[in-house]
Amino acid sequence: MNILAIESSCDDTGAAVVRDGREVLSNVVASQVPEHILYGGVVPEIASRRHCESISGVCSKALSDAGLTLKDIDAVAVTAAPGLIGALLVGVNFAKGLCFANNIPLVPVHHLRGHVASNYISSPELEPPFLALIVSGGHTHLVNVKSYTEYDVIGRTRDDAAGEAMDKAARLLGLPYPGGLNMDKACANGDPKKYVFPFPRVDGSEYDFSFSGMKTAAINLIHNKEQKGEPLDIENIGASYMCCVVKVLSSKTEKAMDLLKPSRFVIAGGVSANSVLRREMQALCKRKKIELFMPELRYCGDNAAMIGSQGYYEYLAGHTAGVKLNAFATMDIDNDFSE
Ligand code: KG4
Ligand code: ZN
Repeated sequence: MNILAIESSCDDTGAAVVRDGREVLSNVVASQVPEHILYGGVVPEIASRRHCESISGVCSKALSDAGLTLKDIDAVAVTAAPGLIGALLVGVNFAKGLCFANNIPLVPVHHLRGHVASNYISSPELEPPFLALIVSGGHTHLVNVKSYTEYDVIGRTRDDAAGEAMDKAARLLGLPYPGGLNMDKACANGDPKKYVFPFPRVDGSEYDFSFSGMKTAAINLIHNKEQKGEPLDIENIGASYMCCVVKVLSSKTEKAMDLLKPSRFVIAGGVSANSVLRREMQALCKRKKIELFMPELRYCGDNAAMIGSQGYYEYLAGHTAGVKLNAFATMDIDNDFSE
């Protein structure tokens, strides 16, 4: 089964063709980074306009790269939630038009389910059930993935997402957007023990995350140095900050592992590309004797291939939609799209 997948939830316009959920025939991403870099972050209105301009060409290229035409496509999968609403609507409306005009089934896909599915592409042997840590610019979730379409959220962030916390600190350090990625590149050789940021106390659930205290501590440290006229020590502050963020992620993950005793563990989302996190998770899984799965770096960030992979399993579960499908800025991962 060939699925044409479309992803436009944030600042990347993506289209891909994926066969039977696992084989990527093409994967095209039109990045908007050079434009948003001018503003230090994603400007939603600009993102929507660029999606409108790019989407048709990106889909045509995905088809031609795969050596296929629309006649070979059995379903169209599209990210319909969560994300920037204007950006999502471009993909959803384009997909609806394509399906209606060509009489092709339409499959709405939850963006975070897509991130989890990036691992199905990188690790063909991976099947649910497993525990997943989803770390992106907008979300930090520990999820029990019970089947391809059934999820229990074990823990989530109470405030900032891990990626957001890294992006904000990176911006203050003068690193360009996307901050997390550039902090990873610029600070990989810094001293991770030189500065200590407070480990959060989260009342109520031992599996929930919080990053706002850590972020405030970093802001204060950086402002303090600036006020005293001291050099910023970017490399060591960044390395220490990444280390502390990752410690929070791994300690909560370990607690969830103790609760669920999974035999497999998966990381997913833009921050799963982080070198410190990948190393820490390798060490944790080795200690716990749990099999670790990580997406290849090219599938960590937003891409349409992961939507095509998850779209296949949603289609098999009967989760299709009609022309009334809407996009949603927020939606829990355990919610199905139903009309
Ligand atoms: O999943 P994603 O591409 O988009 C969302 O769904 O939000 O994640 C984007 C986030 C950004 O915060 C970006 O800075 C972060 O992922 N990111 C990284 C790295 N690469 C991307 N954070 C830390 N280290 C990286 N290597
Ligand atoms: Zn994402």
